[in-house]
Amino acid sequence: MDRKILIVGNWKMNLNVSQASILVHRLDQKIKIHKGVEMVLAPSTLCLQPVSMEIDRRKFRLSAQDAYYKDEGAYTGEVSFTMLRDMVSYCIIGHSERRLYFNETLETVRDKVSAAVRNEITPIVCIGETKTERTAGETKTVIHDQLITAFANLTSNEIENIVIAYEPVWAISTFGGEIAKPNDVQEIINFIRDQIKHLFGPIVAQRVRVLYGGSVSDQTVGTYLNLSGCDGALVGAASLNCYKFTGIIDVASKVHQTRLKIS
Ligand code: PGA
Repeated sequence: MDRKILIVGNWKMNLNVSQASILVHRLDQKIKIHKGVEMVLAPSTLCLQPVSMEIDRRKFRLSAQDAYYKDEGAYTGEVSFTMLRDMVSYCIIGHSERRLYFNETLETVRDKVSAAVRNEITPIVCIGETKTERTAGETKTVIHDQLITAFANLTSNEIENIVIAYEPVWAISTFGGEIAKPNDVQEIINFIRDQIKHLFGPIVAQRVRVLYGGSVSDQTVGTYLNLSGCDGALVGAASLNCYKFTGIIDVASKVHQTRLKIS
């Protein structure tokens, strides 16, 4: 299947404008255009504008890390999807740090996903269970509830363009960074596609892109990208390191070339 691998670097609340500019410059020097890999950078909201002026758009696309679901109005401190629509291609929505630290509910995530789609920004919807939920055997229920609410207001046509990032909370570096077993990740990727198939039909299930995220590094990314139905990775800490991020892109490019040979 000739589908590009999507690699998203989530810089989180790191790097001021000049530090971001230095990283973009270094990445640009080290990373070539890879036909089989779509590379996306997600700087802080503050850095989106300057980074958008500096990136080579043949190589990189931009993602926001969050936005507010109302299009405009008296919402002090917020930035809307409407304001971002000409600048970014993607927006990360429902990241576990937002769900846990900023009390984002299933319904908030649903409203943000709708607002992104309304403003022609592709949502990267993060879903995943906590350690406690996994230990209690609730992983699939949690994933099911997160999926069903996030997509509640969308049509099947809209859903097929969305990106889903499976990020077990306990595997994210912020929350412990345990390395997830490939078999466990495969089981949940299959489950996600089965749920989408059941709810929205086989074509949507085949077209929707599913990424893995959770302490992905240049050493581990190949294993996850080789899982069936895995379309890429959402990378946190390693995306702040020019060498590690470049290494991840190189591995993704090789995995894509191997896929082309097999198909
Ligand atoms: P990590 O973060 O790669 O640092 O674990 C991933 C994420 O939070 O998206």
